[in-house]
Amino acid sequence: MTSKKTFLLSASIICANALDLKADIRQLEDGDVDYLHFDIMDGAFVPRLGLFPEMIASIKAISKIPISAHLMIEHPDNFIPAFAKAGADMIIIHAESTRHLDRSIRLVKNIGVKAGVALNPATPLSVIDYVLDNIDLVMLMAINPGIVGHALIPGAMKKISDLKNKLRDYPNVLIEIDGGVTFKSAPDMIKMGANMLVCGSSTIFKPGELISKKIKELRQLLK
Ligand code: DX5
Ligand code: ZN
Repeated sequence: MTSKKTFLLSASIICANALDLKADIRQLEDGDVDYLHFDIMDGAFVPRLGLFPEMIASIKAISKIPISAHLMIEHPDNFIPAFAKAGADMIIIHAESTRHLDRSIRLVKNIGVKAGVALNPATPLSVIDYVLDNIDLVMLMAINPGIVGHALIPGAMKKISDLKNKLRDYPNVLIEIDGGVTFKSAPDMIKMGANMLVCGSSTIFKPGELISKKIKELRQLLK
């Protein structure tokens, strides 16, 4: 990750070609993507199943791109050590999935991994007020989580600028957006204050040109 970049792009691996994942990873490296985004889903917190820690370990063995694990699961504390052991550089926990958000964040930080907090569209920003000193990123869901390819929920844009204002005194806390990122919505998200975007089925994994080319196109658009 280059510190000169004003925004970061995170590639949603659930949207990659599972039968030719290595080739897609090489494309993501060619495009100089900043992070790989892993959707972990349990069929309970969200209505489908997702990826798993062993996959992170396999990718870690062949690539240096930092990995973030987005845990859309009940009882995240039980699985945090497995994701850290697999090589996740950042673990993102949903505030709605844990009764003890502060404890879950500390669990991640004490293992030596970056901690992010994800918020569903209807969750107020105030839930992060007393954990801000201990987190590296806040991820706003611009869709209800669990479904790939959904259109962004109205209100998502205003929430980004509200979060940007809240984080005035925390310039190092990243603002990431997950879901609904398209070539059309991405520039507005950055304008409203986001500095990291999860790129999936509507951008860099959209069928068509090379993934590396689409990453470059998106970066150009956001400059
Ligand atoms: C949705 C997931 C997203 C998804 C990206 O629950 O968390 O990461 O892969 O979504 P699209 O492809 O819609 O941008
Ligand atoms: Zn995600």
